[in-house]
Formats: sequence, structure tokens, C-alpha cells
Amino acid sequence: MSQECIKIMPKGPLSGTVSLVGAKNAVLVIMASTLLTEGTSVLTNVPVSADVLGMIELLRELGAQVSFDKEKKRLVIDTSDVKNFTVSPEIMKEMRASVLVMGPLLARFLRAHIVFPGGCLIGVRPIDYHLKNFKKMGVSIHHVDELLKAETQKLQATRLALEYPSVGATENILMAATLTEGVTTLVNAALEPEVLDLVEVLKKMGANISVVAPATIEVTGVSSLQPIEHEIIVDRLEAGTLLLAGVISRGDVYVANARAHDLDVFLMKLQEMGHEVEIGANGIGVRVKATPLPEAVSFKTGPYPGFPTDLQAPMMAAQCLAAGTCEIHETVFENRFLHVRELQKMGAQIKFLFGDKVQVKGVDALYGTHVIASDIRASCALVLAGLAAQGPTIMTGIKHWRRGYDKLEEKLISLGASLTIDMPDELMQSGDLINLEQQL
Ligand code: EPZ
Repeated sequence: MSQECIKIMPKGPLSGTVSLVGAKNAVLVIMASTLLTEGTSVLTNVPVSADVLGMIELLRELGAQVSFDKEKKRLVIDTSDVKNFTVSPEIMKEMRASVLVMGPLLARFLRAHIVFPGGCLIGVRPIDYHLKNFKKMGVSIHHVDELLKAETQKLQATRLALEYPSVGATENILMAATLTEGVTTLVNAALEPEVLDLVEVLKKMGANISVVAPATIEVTGVSSLQPIEHEIIVDRLEAGTLLLAGVISRGDVYVANARAHDLDVFLMKLQEMGHEVEIGANGIGVRVKATPLPEAVSFKTGPYPGFPTDLQAPMMAAQCLAAGTCEIHETVFENRFLHVRELQKMGAQIKFLFGDKVQVKGVDALYGTHVIASDIRASCALVLAGLAAQGPTIMTGIKHWRRGYDKLEEKLISLGASLTIDMPDELMQSGDLINLEQQL
């Protein structure tokens, strides 16, 4: 076994103060948006994660000059010499967010050549909403094998509607519309905080955008956009994960720069479990003081401001050790329960009611074993479960953990967790992995 793994040893309640880095799901699209400008943009509070490094490679492949000061979390992107509008299959397959360069490339070059972004384990992840609406904007789409050529003589402003408030489709259409003459209206748009951070960036660039009720975004095209400086919003999903680390370990955790108003439904559910949630002035900073006897609560994921699908897996881990029974309904992705089997291996009582709904019956204890992460958020669920389990937990598949987070393990350690990232051979020699393998 060559892949690295995380070893989690239970060490009792986590407590202390941590801070958040920039949001993965904001920084990737904002990096792509710099293609709309010619010049040098500066992004700060940028997480050092595998996906950010992947997007840097993509921008360089298109001709941008990119430098990243990882210590200062400061990214400088010069798009003056971008002339390429073709993204290589290798990069597209590695990172789905690559599809977000389509809108900027169409706006700047009237062309974008990509391959279909790979699906992933949580779902097929089609891009039909993106393509359907680009066609309505006058773009012709040609498929040659897996190569997808999008081209237009001139982007057309028009009224568009999304049948589902897709985050990526909203972002791609928005970016294309900023340089499209006329008024483009997008109805049933996604309004996640990360989408709104992109809107702020586009406005700073000089775009003419307004967000109006009900969930509609209007863009009046301009002739050009200018480079910007921008601090990426903090990651609400990292905030949720850190708060859940306090909850599942029965501790007391304060996330200093969390934006509570991005997490209303999630925080409400923590309170319904019996945990004490304190919110700082102006909604900045969230502290959770865990109750020793949490109640299981049901929840259903949905588009913002509903319960975030990206916190479904970590929240499920917390329900496994709460009293009573709850139902968890995943409505956003069709296959986002891959962590269920891994939690069951740890002793969780979870059963499928339907394909998109599970029932969790709280148990008194979870037990450490070898578990496998299938996606970014599943990796969080398994690390959290390991924090509260009896005995060591070893999680392989940590490439997902690295994709989505900037050394989140160091923050958990600063709160008192015992986490090490090892090569399995070392664990074999230590006897941990052999025992765990035998338990499989
Ligand atoms: C973004 O993905 C996020 N990724 C996801 O985070 C997040 O879970 C998701 O939004 C929902 O909030 C980034 O921002 C990089 P969607 P995206 O388009 O844009 C279907 C994480 O763990 N759909 O809102 O791909 C789709 O299959 C990741 O950080 C179509 O059918 O999500 C899904 O079922 C996971 N056709 C639903 O809509 C389309 O053209 C929501 O997808 C597009 C989407």
C-alpha cells in the first residue's frame, strides 16, 4: 500500500480557538474569473489545497503567469498573455472545477475547448445546465469524442432560467454574461455565499450585476473588466467541520472568524441537538459548547440557504453518537452516502430508507478501524468519527482530505486531537494496521 493515511487516536474533548482559511468553493471560481481581465490580480486568504494547486496549473496552461506565496496565502495571477482557450484532458479529469473556465474563455475569446469533466463518486455531475444555457446565449457546442468545443460569433444577452439552482452553472453563466452586450437575466440562480463572493469580485472588476428577489441575477454587459485585489471569504464548510469536531468530542470550540449567517440552518440543528451555540457580534465568530447528552436530529440537505450538502457527511458522524433516531435526506447529489458503509464499519447503526434517505440510530460508542475516504466531505466524517471512537482509526484515501483542506489536521491537533499522517508501512510495523486489517 503506497498511499498515505491519517491515524486518529481518541483523546477526549477538543477545546480552544481556531481560525478559518479561504473557501475552496469560492477561490477556485474566482481564480477562473481572472481570465475575464488582462492584467495582474491579487487574491489573499487563499487556502493551500490540492485543488488550488490544480487550478494554478490550469491557468498556467492557458498562458497566465501565476505565483503563490503559500506562507502568506497570497496568489498573484497575471492574465495579460493568456491566448490559449483549450484545457487539457488531464487537468479536466483531475479537477471538476475546471469547467468553470468555460464562461470566462467564451467571454474573452468566444471559444472554449474542454473535455467533459469527470464525474466523481458522489454523482455523475453532468454539465447540461451549463451547456443548455450557453446555447441560448448563442454558443454552438460540438462534441468530438470526449472533446467539447464551444464557439460563438457573439454572445447574446437573454433571459435564462435554471431548472435547479446549480452553483457551477450560475457561476459560468454569470461570468460569460459580464462581457455580453445587453442585459442577461438568470432566474432561479444559486446564491451560495461563494457565488456571492464571485459577484463581489466581478463587481470590483467593473461588471454591472444586481441580485434581486426571487433568486434572480441581472447582468448588464460591459466592454472590458479590470484586474482586482480580493480577500477570499472564509470557508463555512471548514467552520462546520471544526464545530462538529467540538460537538462529537463533547468539547468547547470557538471558530474565531466564522460567518454565522452563512450557517443558519446548520447552527440551528446543532442547537436542536442540545449544544450551546454562541455567536459573536455582527455574526462573526461561533462557539459551540457540546452537551454530554446530544439528541439525534433529522435534517435534509438543499440549495443555500438550506442545510449544506457539503456538511451532510460530517453531521451524520455526529448523529451516530447522539441519543435517539434521526433521518438524513440528501437531495443535492444522487450518491452522497458512501461514508455510510465506513461509519457502519466503526459500529454506527445506519440503514437506508430510500436511495436518498438514511436512518441513523444513535449508539453508545464507535470503534476505531481502517476506513476509506471516498470524497472530501466523507473524509471529514471519518476523521470526526475517529476523534470520538474507542481505539485507533486509520483512514486511507487522504488525497480527498488534501484536495479540500489546507492542513485541517493541524487545526484539529491545536484543539487537542491526536492525529498523525503516516505511511501505512510504519503503521504495519507498529502493529496498528495489521490489527485493523485483521478486523476487516
Ligand atoms: C458546487 O458543485 C461545489 N463545488 C460542491 O462542492 C457543492 O456540493 C455543490 O456546488 C452544491 O452546493 C464547487 O463549488 C467547486 P451544482 P457544482 O451544479 O457546481 C446537478 C465539495 O465537496 N447538476 O450545484 O458541481 C448535479 O449533478 C463539492 O466541496 C446537473 O444535473 O454543484 C447535482 O446533483 C462537492 N446538471 C446538483 O445539480 C448541471 O449542469 C447540484 O450541482 C449541473 C449540476
